[in-house]
Amino acid sequence: PLYTVVVPAAGIGQRMQADRPKQYLTIAGKTILEHTLENLYAHPQIEQIIVAINPLDQYFDSLPIASKTWVKRVDGGGERADSVLAGLNSIQNADWVLVHDAARPCLAQDDLSKLLATAEHSEHGAILACRVRDTMKRGNTSHDILHTESRDNLWHALTPQFFPLDALRSALGQAMAQGIAITDEASAIEWAQGKVHLVEGRSSNIKVTQPEDLHLAEFYLQHKAT
Ligand code: CTP
Ligand code: MG
Repeated sequence: PLYTVVVPAAGIGQRMQADRPKQYLTIAGKTILEHTLENLYAHPQIEQIIVAINPLDQYFDSLPIASKTWVKRVDGGGERADSVLAGLNSIQNADWVLVHDAARPCLAQDDLSKLLATAEHSEHGAILACRVRDTMKRGNTSHDILHTESRDNLWHALTPQFFPLDALRSALGQAMAQGIAITDEASAIEWAQGKVHLVEGRSSNIKVTQPEDLHLAEFYLQHKAT
């Protein structure tokens, strides 16, 4: 089967402190957004990408990818979840949908394949994730350690995240209407009592967030695994 990916790309990149939203910064010859979209479309099972862009954005339309037939632009919203929902609402008919951050240009093709392959035996959906490496401390508001959290079964949630379209649309819509903080799609499905599977992916699938991440992303892009 062929799939659609919703890519939220309407953020301002405040933590990057650059002169433009971080998805428009150039690494290894192309903007982060171009790397992300081209990398997704390079996968044989991806046929369309819906990209949520800030309605006041001045950069997207001048990129060559903006005019590709497989790219469709929708207006993003104030929070990431609003942008994702706008993308989901523009899809006519699909059983399953992927959501992937514009700020994750280093996704490896084999990790995407691995995630898609789990659709066959996951009921409510699956996400890419990687195991926590450091010792984890629970602190209080004054930064004193309360205790050490067990690292067993503790994961970093990554994207892509892969869910049945109707279930994701309704869970996200309802959770947002109730004012629940939703930082990824899985949180909405969890809130709706769905069982989400963790698919172990590479830790190189970073979300470019702070200035030093640009160097890391450049390294990973130049030493890309397939
Ligand atoms: N995003 C979005 N719409 C928003 C906020 C974020 O589409 N209203 C997107 C970003 O463009 C990014 C992804 O969601 O691709 C993950 O968000 P994050 O890494 O937090 O990006 P920003 O919100 O842009 O960065 P910051 O939080 O530092 O401002
Ligand atoms: Mg943000």
